[in-house]
Amino acid sequence: MCGIIAGVSDEEIAPILVEGLRRVEYRGYDSAGVATLHDGMIEVRKDVGRVGELEDSHHVSGMKGKTGMAHTRWATHGGVTTANAHPHPSCHGEVAVIHNGIIENYLELKDRLAAKGHVFASETDTEVIAHVVEDAYAEVHDPIKAVLRGIKALKGQYALVLMFSDRPGLLIGTRNDAPLVIGAGKRERFLASDVLAFISRTDRAVFLDNNEIAELTPDGFRVFDLHGGQVKKPATQVAWELSDVSKLDYAHFTLKEIHEQPETVIRAMMQEPKKLEAFAEAITGAKSVVLTASGSSYHAATLLKNRLSKEARMRCDVVLSGEFEGYEHLVDGDTVLVAFSQSGETADVLEAVKKGRERGAKVLTAVNAAGSSLARESDIVLLLNCGPEVGVAATKSFTAQVMVGNMIADAVVGQSTAREPKKVSAQIADVLRLEGRVREIARELSNRTDFYFIARGSHYPVAQEGALKLKELAYVHAEGMPASELKHGTLALIEKGTPVVVIANSQEGFDSTVSNAMELQARGAEIIGISDRVNPVFRHFIEIPSANASVAPILEVIPLQLLAYFMATERKNDPDYPRNLAKSVTVK
Ligand code: AGP
Ligand code: GLU
Repeated sequence: MCGIIAGVSDEEIAPILVEGLRRVEYRGYDSAGVATLHDGMIEVRKDVGRVGELEDSHHVSGMKGKTGMAHTRWATHGGVTTANAHPHPSCHGEVAVIHNGIIENYLELKDRLAAKGHVFASETDTEVIAHVVEDAYAEVHDPIKAVLRGIKALKGQYALVLMFSDRPGLLIGTRNDAPLVIGAGKRERFLASDVLAFISRTDRAVFLDNNEIAELTPDGFRVFDLHGGQVKKPATQVAWELSDVSKLDYAHFTLKEIHEQPETVIRAMMQEPKKLEAFAEAITGAKSVVLTASGSSYHAATLLKNRLSKEARMRCDVVLSGEFEGYEHLVDGDTVLVAFSQSGETADVLEAVKKGRERGAKVLTAVNAAGSSLARESDIVLLLNCGPEVGVAATKSFTAQVMVGNMIADAVVGQSTAREPKKVSAQIADVLRLEGRVREIARELSNRTDFYFIARGSHYPVAQEGALKLKELAYVHAEGMPASELKHGTLALIEKGTPVVVIANSQEGFDSTVSNAMELQARGAEIIGISDRVNPVFRHFIEIPSANASVAPILEVIPLQLLAYFMATERKNDPDYPRNLAKSVTVK
């Protein structure tokens, strides 16, 4: 899940790389490094910590050279150490590599190379690539041929960029099940995990497909297939608004993104009518509908599944993408597979879609990143239109997914439950005005160690989402569960002062949810009510506007996002970059 940016230019490359690296830091941030090529030598500077720290301690933006590569890591193989940070040079310093992914057969390759005299400086799987390619280069003296030969030895997932000490002005990149995009600027070319990395330099992007090898020079690029044959690749113009990735006056991206929701929810409603119709028709015409996603996107997909089964009377399943293997035997040519994803690069989701495709399913997606692997592998794509989400926690992308799900369900059912953009937007703005109140609650509860979130029916996925937010931002144990399930075990955990967030909607199961809250209160729980109707059982109360079952989850989740955010800041955590996580989970 690392962030990659590499470039060849007429100008000094290091400051461009450092700026780009900050923009892909959401992909991983346990260590970072830069390598440049100058006077026939590859210089590498790397360290543990964030890009800003690397710049402060190693002044990487002052490194000399017009060819270079940079990387921000999310460790999979080998601890978080300076030696394990990328770039990795080969033993003679002739080749350097940055990598996103996992090389599954690295131990076997390492043994083979060590027997040939190669000396390894790190514990990573990545480093073997530099040695494999160095070996091949010594024989074939041609960078493309050397990389082609090198990748034939690799098993696993990768996006790689390589440079060669005797080839200034040249970069080679290739991918297999991990994203890599070419940026084609004026007298400069880039290879990156995400267009965001080079968007301030160029808006012309070329998306590489699996097993394609790109050769970049400042003047151009060529793409080859696995047999060395040249492939024609069209350039796509990407939206300049992507470059608008700043925190404005907000303390964190997460808070800014929470506050963008009155607008992003409206943008999510702006779907091309024809596409939406085709999406709905595919669902209606299918014998079976299966939804798949991970994390927050799974919660949003669950809301859609509930509406399809309840209102459209359709049998459909929602399956966690990482658990798809146990389900895939039920997928066939009569299945429509609907995938939800913010990034469109989540490895589990891509794998589920691949399995579905192999079995003949039609693939429909709702995704935020337009040029992502998922978008490119789908039959019909609805975009979330919520702009880049930098905070690791899904906030505006979640509510955009809920809204797109509502549009889909409405189109299937032939009604309109969420077609008053101005009203919904104003209601969200009203909820955001409760920020001060949520902050007070977070302050009061910031030392608690366990939280429970309960709700019924279509609000249950919101409880799960609230718990996930709290875990990932505040590092507090939290569980989201149906209110009805408490008595089947969890009540045993309730003690005096255990905080329980109760989501109770006046139009759906209010009385039974409040009864459950009373049972909790009788056992000492401290109840935080999120509702459009007050009740004495709520020790703390966040009053949200009344809304129907499609819009209510959006209004309910916003106080939970704010709660997690303020719990994080109270506990001195960085909400934008929670420990151990990365935004885009591109490994299985
Ligand atoms: C949400 O806050 C998480 N960071 C995570 O669960 C995320 O939703 C999940 O990894 C799926 O990502 P995607 O939407 O980009 O596929
Ligand atoms: N496997 C590599 C490492 O641990 C890259 C990790 C990744 O892409 O997440 O350094």
